[in-house]
Amino acid sequence: MCGIVGYIGTQTATDILIAGLEKLEYRGYDSAGVATVLEGEIHRVRAKGKLYNLREKLERIENPARIGIGHTRWATHGKPEEHNAHPHVDTKMRVAVVQNGIIENYRDLREELKQRGHEFLTETDTEVIPLLIAEFLPKAPTDNYQYPSPFLEAVCKTVQRLKGAFAIAVICADYPDELIVARQQAPLTIGFGQGEFFCASDTPALVSHTRAVLTLENGEMARLTPMGVEVYDFQGHRLKKFPRTLDWNPVLAEKHEFRHFMLKEIYEQPGVVRTCLEAYLNSDWNAQANDKQPIQLGMPDSLYENLEQIQILACGTSWHASLVGKYLLEQLAGIPTVVQYSSEFRYAPPPLTTNTLTIGVTQSGETADTIAALEMERQRRTGLDSAYQPRLLGITNRPESSLAQLVPQVIHTHAGIEIGVAATKTFVTQLIVFYCLALDLAYRRQTLSASRIEEIIVGLRQLPAQIELILESQENYVEELAHQFQETQDFIFLGRGINFPIALEGALKLKEISYIHAEGYPAGEMKHGPIALLDAKVPVVAIAMPGSVYEKVLSNAQEAKARDARLIGVVPINDPEAAQTFDDLLPVPAVEELLSPILSVIPLQLLAYHIAARRGLDVDQPRNLAKSVTVE
Ligand code: F6R
Repeated sequence: MCGIVGYIGTQTATDILIAGLEKLEYRGYDSAGVATVLEGEIHRVRAKGKLYNLREKLERIENPARIGIGHTRWATHGKPEEHNAHPHVDTKMRVAVVQNGIIENYRDLREELKQRGHEFLTETDTEVIPLLIAEFLPKAPTDNYQYPSPFLEAVCKTVQRLKGAFAIAVICADYPDELIVARQQAPLTIGFGQGEFFCASDTPALVSHTRAVLTLENGEMARLTPMGVEVYDFQGHRLKKFPRTLDWNPVLAEKHEFRHFMLKEIYEQPGVVRTCLEAYLNSDWNAQANDKQPIQLGMPDSLYENLEQIQILACGTSWHASLVGKYLLEQLAGIPTVVQYSSEFRYAPPPLTTNTLTIGVTQSGETADTIAALEMERQRRTGLDSAYQPRLLGITNRPESSLAQLVPQVIHTHAGIEIGVAATKTFVTQLIVFYCLALDLAYRRQTLSASRIEEIIVGLRQLPAQIELILESQENYVEELAHQFQETQDFIFLGRGINFPIALEGALKLKEISYIHAEGYPAGEMKHGPIALLDAKVPVVAIAMPGSVYEKVLSNAQEAKARDARLIGVVPINDPEAAQTFDDLLPVPAVEELLSPILSVIPLQLLAYHIAARRGLDVDQPRNLAKSVTVE
């Protein structure tokens, strides 16, 4: 949520900043702005709306500055108007700040600053920061200064006053060769070039300049000058830190021939599922190979020992993936599993149980609620199980994220960078990780026979080709079908058992990118109330895959049909019963029920995409949303 960038070096700063913000626009797109230092003055340009508005403004201005900061905003405090856009400045316009996060004590700081005569020009929480920094700066330049820089000291004293989760980048007209950054529970990475240095909320903004990066940890700040980068803690003590080399494929961050990133990412699913399976399935294993393990997640035995319960914490689409995970962990490995919304869990945590594994699922690894819930569990559980450290595991697509810094074990979903705000390929790879985790546990706890594990693995290996088949056979049909729902106002999605979370996911995909109201229900619950919503204007999408609940879902669909609803079925290919029941068919290969979610979600992603695209909406950057929700 919100993206920040910074640059100091030899090139034109605004060019670098705009290019960086383009790569971060997925984090927010309500407004954007940049500030530079040129000839002893701060120059600031801001614009409401998408980044192209700012770019247009900047094109009309000559600004050769070599240092600057930039911001793309997802509004939290204050409407998305130009006056609330970052960077924010102090009264004399000597200090400019961009921030990602929330300053929780900003009201107190605002009052305090007002009492000292400051006036506020915005409704944001950020404005207190430049005002505080300006107060801490020396009134006149001082000789024989011992600290590396009075500017660094002023920022240091300021961050000590801030509460909340934030990442900031700061420039000052009086210190034109210094860019100061600080991080507290919001991401910030520094990039090292030749005589030039960069900072950004996320690595896509850095990779076209450098692969040498340093991700700051909580409570760290850095001073970037043309000579290099110095890292400090918030008390001002110098720290020894070294950059690492980023493993990155910039090709993934381009749209290529696709109209939207979301469609490209839907099409990447066969490939990323294959990659993820290759990473974790042991190709040398078969049911006869007793000396080897089928799954290679690299989890230590201590994580699984005497395990009695699993609790999973997640938000949004990751929460849906976790519901499928619960089904797998319970049905395959026999471990009672609860799935909680991170945002709810934090304020009503259940009583502590011993021998519990806590899993945080977050594709970005930055979702503030999930990170905070895990941190709470880390603290609550320290010392509880005398034999162990708290058992914490993260599942993420960003192994360099805040999540990875917090939990000792991480499983990477290997989906590659996902730019579209609606999660697609990261969702299916989260599911693959849950299959692997459940099988690993089932094998170690001996809850499944080796031949049954082999059967599931054979089925998993066929999924990439089956997803390809769905994409090839359905793209045109779904596009046509979408045309008929352009004006529809409500949708219902039904699923049961392991496909109930897929109904929730189908509804979420549709509502977030098409702005059509959609609800997902367990199919059997319809008659307990929601069926009252149905009439000829409300299409019902039902997932009816072969298995324990197939006939039940068909009956539930018939109940909807009797209320005149138009029925769309995600059904097995060539199934005569399904063909009789549904008005429109979205056929997928008939796999065993346990594996069906990976296939049944694909037509729902396509349906949501094509309805939104037909409506002419900005599929990759839907209104009010951001890819990485770093505020609570
Ligand atoms: C929906 C979507 C969101 C995220 C949610 C959690 O398409 O992307 O619902 O799933 O914001 O994000 P992560 O997984 O990064 O914690």
